[in-house]
Amino acid sequence: MGFVITIDGPAASGKSSVSRELARSLNIPWVSTGAFYRGLAYAAIRKDIALTDRERLSELAMSNDWKVEMTPEKTKVWFESEDVTDKIGQENVGNAASTISHYPEIRQSLLDHQRSCALGVKGLVAEGRDCGTVVFPQAEVKVYITASSEHRASRRAQELGTDQKEMAQLQQVRDKQDSTRKVAPLQVPEGALVLDTTEMTFSEVFDRVLEFVDGKLKN
Ligand code: DC
Repeated sequence: MGFVITIDGPAASGKSSVSRELARSLNIPWVSTGAFYRGLAYAAIRKDIALTDRERLSELAMSNDWKVEMTPEKTKVWFESEDVTDKIGQENVGNAASTISHYPEIRQSLLDHQRSCALGVKGLVAEGRDCGTVVFPQAEVKVYITASSEHRASRRAQELGTDQKEMAQLQQVRDKQDSTRKVAPLQVPEGALVLDTTEMTFSEVFDRVLEFVDGKLKN
């Protein structure tokens, strides 16, 4: 297993952009663990499985009907041989993902797949909500990225071309769900670099993260 850098934080905090850039500069792969929850939620919607039907969701979690693939640009999701990566980015899929992420048995069945991303590689950047606390608690480097809720809502609304106010409301619900759930809630991992990026440019964020990573990996 290679070294692991975890980047956790709330929705639309910019984790994916930082992870992608960091992985590129270190020449290692990266994975969005949110893609596993989004992929499963999307597959459930397509198969008309209720988000409350835990038994069928668990079966679906372990089925070959969908899969996740790491690529340098994005963590891709395939549903029945169709690339649905763009479709899982919608906020309704994010909210469905947040709903099913409460079920401990679902989290457990996705865990092995998430961990296996670090096998056979020299290093991995993993981003999500519980990467530094549950998926890779032994990670060499942990980062926690956040930003004001207004900033995050405006970023995601711009990305998706939707209304900012509506996005802020949806994100509020998701933030609350993700940080108050009983299993693996969003929290700052011990020893993590904490960055509030509200007033920072992307290159300032990236430089600060890279400096922290360099310092940690040298030791
Ligand atoms: O990071 P994201 O927006 O793609 O994540 C979508 C949802 O998936 C998020 O609201 C909660 C869930 N999730 C999780 O519970 N644990 C993770 N490590 C990543 C995502």
